[in-house]
Amino acid sequence: MFGYRHNFHAGNYADVVKHVVLTSLLQALQQKPKPFYLQDSHGGIGLYDLTSHEADKNREYLSGISRLWQAPNPPAAVRHYLDIVRTFNSGDELRYYPGSPRLGRALLRANDRMVVTELNTIDCETLKREFNGDRQVTVHLQDSYQGIKAYLPPTERRGLVLIDPAYELKDEYTRLVRGLQNGYQRWPTGIYALWYPLMSTTLRESFFAALKKTGIRKILTAELNITPLQTEKAMCGSGMIIINAPWQLDQQLKSELEWLWPLLSDAKEGGVNVEWLVPE
Ligand SMILES: C[S@@+](CC[C@H](N)C(=O)[O-])C[C@H]1O[C@@H](n2cnc3c(N)ncnc32)[C@H](O)[C@@H]1O
Repeated sequence: MFGYRHNFHAGNYADVVKHVVLTSLLQALQQKPKPFYLQDSHGGIGLYDLTSHEADKNREYLSGISRLWQAPNPPAAVRHYLDIVRTFNSGDELRYYPGSPRLGRALLRANDRMVVTELNTIDCETLKREFNGDRQVTVHLQDSYQGIKAYLPPTERRGLVLIDPAYELKDEYTRLVRGLQNGYQRWPTGIYALWYPLMSTTLRESFFAALKKTGIRKILTAELNITPLQTEKAMCGSGMIIINAPWQLDQQLKSELEWLWPLLSDAKEGGVNVEWLVPE
């Protein structure tokens, strides 16, 4: 279960898509002065050194964050995301990449709050050290789906739950959909953002069918394929399911992903797909 270590993948194109969407969602929540709540259900370690032995193994960041690091004229939310990544680096050199807890923390205002769950003992210890003394952040060594049951609904009554599993377990999709249902039952007005790999047309279809079966409304999908989706299992891109997406986020994400796509796709095939799986 704990074979997956995000150190090997930090800053790859899937992280870029996920973190740009996360930034866009948190910026939307910042539009109102009322405090918001962020639950990061699969935290990872928070900050990644791209010169580490792990990151250096496949250098996935070279086909991810590196490609937009110096790109001109990014859309506003992408610029904001890049500005946050820059705060962890000095000058033009890209060495450190912030994972979702660090990125999320950078987007909290003084009265906003974040809870992070992470089940890997070592990664969780790292995270706890990172946020030691931070009164706006609580880190728990806990199963993400237990955390969803334990901490929802939040007292703030507005906010976002990020669900970003490693998809190592055979029944991850089932657990995910059940976890989502549990969360939604407790907090139907919360925003839920769920990352998924684009592996094959059949897997995507069965995942979407399971989501539709939950009866949950207002489900947006935002996908970026670096190569066209095929029938066999190979990662061709990544997507985000967004439940209760803020107003006009669909159009915003479409233009952000369309800006990212030519940078992230070598094949110049595939493309961007933003559509409502289930409307309001
Ligand atoms: C894809 S990584 C998360 C990356 C992070 N969200 C980011 O964007 O920087 C998935 C993480 O989930 C952790 N994990 C796996 N199963 C979990 C579970 N049931 N509950 C909580 N964390 C889990 C793994 O140890 C790993 O650190």
